[in-house]
Amino acid sequence: MPKNKGKLVCMVVVFVLALTLSVGCFTRSNAEADDQPAPPPGMPSLKEIYKDYFEIGAAVNLSTINTHRSLIDFHFSSLTAENEMKPEGLQRTEGRFSFQIADRIVNLAVDQGLKMRGHTLVWHAQTPGWFFQDKNGNRIDQKAVITEEDRQLVRERLESHIENVMQYYAGKVYAWDVVNEAISDDGRYILRQDSPWFRILGEEFLEIAFRKAHEVDPDAKLFYNDYNIERPYKLNRTIQMLQSLLDKGVPIHGVGIQGHWSVGDSLAEVEQAIKKYAELGLEIHITELDIGTRDISAQGLARQAEYYRQAFALFKKYSDVITSVTLWGISDAATWRPNDNPLLFDKNREPKPAFWAIVDTDKSWEENKAYYLGE
Ligand code: XIL
Repeated sequence: MPKNKGKLVCMVVVFVLALTLSVGCFTRSNAEADDQPAPPPGMPSLKEIYKDYFEIGAAVNLSTINTHRSLIDFHFSSLTAENEMKPEGLQRTEGRFSFQIADRIVNLAVDQGLKMRGHTLVWHAQTPGWFFQDKNGNRIDQKAVITEEDRQLVRERLESHIENVMQYYAGKVYAWDVVNEAISDDGRYILRQDSPWFRILGEEFLEIAFRKAHEVDPDAKLFYNDYNIERPYKLNRTIQMLQSLLDKGVPIHGVGIQGHWSVGDSLAEVEQAIKKYAELGLEIHITELDIGTRDISAQGLARQAEYYRQAFALFKKYSDVITSVTLWGISDAATWRPNDNPLLFDKNREPKPAFWAIVDTDKSWEENKAYYLGE
């Protein structure tokens, strides 16, 4: 065989081999990442439908990024880690940051071009006890007298956590829930009295956290996130707290309304709250939406669908200030409220009436389903 021909055959063989291998790898990694079939043809994509309104996000975890992978890819433009980026997930032991697990979620967002919300830096829950212990291992927040030295120590830990985490995720996480759930459920107080952050640092802990966050990543959008702050019993106190931070020039850009609701909860109250928060000049994210119903008869699911339809119609009406709506999970197979069936997809990860209802909020869920599936 002439020398050149041999070379050519050899190159062709190498090329075909490389092609087979890469196709093989591609299909294999896809199969590994996803135990679900892709959505059937004709299925509308939520992120397509809402692209001119707001980001449409989902909270995910290490398990659902595999079990719900094709739904994530098809429907969502934003991710939040359900637990993995909380203080206990990132700094279980003082000074030892572990980003590997959270990175699996953040890297998925980065690779797929999705927005990543950071949840959360400062919270009274899911935060290791060492944050609040003195050098002898005593809980500072339980002391009768808290010294200046104690305060300094806890302040340094707060700032160091924010600095390490936000620096690490700068450029990848575009928005942070800097402080979570600081408002009291008890109307006599503005701030939650049982938070160790409050007990040790006083109300200043919010200001310290937001200022530090802005210093570390000036490009990040900084949110205050909480539950029931759209309800009258908490709304005014939240406004007061936010207003006083804004008056001091504290860098805070948005408010996160969690949205752990149940079918029947007042949406008129939600609308009032949206208006008030918008008046403060803040952006609004709906950060943890899930709308429970115990009734999973056809009628119960239809009622849930109608409620979801009205909620999304409201979000669309205020899409100049609501820039992101995140569901706290994808299907009822993986939710922190397993008895409440609160999500858009059922336990088999099939679209529920609630899904069809938000596909076009001007029509009924039945019409939408028939239109898209041609049934
Ligand atoms: C929840 C998670 O969904 C659960 O898996 C975990 O056991 C507890 O926390 N408000 C928040 C979220 O800000 O972080 C909470 O997430 C739900 C309520």
